[in-house]
Amino acid sequence: MAILEIRKYPDEVLKKKSLPIKGIDKNLQRLIDDMIETMHTACGIGLAAPQVGVSKRLIVIDISMRHEKQPVIVLINPEIVEADSLVDAEEGCLSLPGHSVAIKRAEKVVVKGLDRGGREIKIEADGLLARALQHEIDHLDGILIFDRLSSIKREFFKKKYLKELKSLGVRS
Ligand code: NI
Repeated sequence: MAILEIRKYPDEVLKKKSLPIKGIDKNLQRLIDDMIETMHTACGIGLAAPQVGVSKRLIVIDISMRHEKQPVIVLINPEIVEADSLVDAEEGCLSLPGHSVAIKRAEKVVVKGLDRGGREIKIEADGLLARALQHEIDHLDGILIFDRLSSIKREFFKKKYLKELKSLGVRS
């Protein structure tokens, strides 16, 4: 297993729509293991393939830090099939380190996809898991947390973020 580099905004790969996964092979299994290790090392609760530079529809989630017994979730080609009632909550992203914003998302969702063995699965989630699923699936469509803000708040967020990147000497 290997720890992969987590891409940070404004990396182009984060803005692209990812392609569906057609075959489940050894390379994909390795990518899944590497993404899980990368997520754990970064202390994140979720990671989407574009965040490690792979424009494919794959996410991993682990909320066991806050909810014991919840196993690691691996979802290939995930799709939200039901979403219910909106709630506001503070959210961060490993691709936008050091920043969090309050975002409205569905409280409950039903998500369909394939597990790492290629079997169809359906997850009914609420609370933190529902939020993590929506956040990671957004990444597959090139949507970042600030894209869920009003346009004024979005521009403010981006400016502040890019200014801080500059002051840290990071070139974008
Ligand atoms: Ni994220």
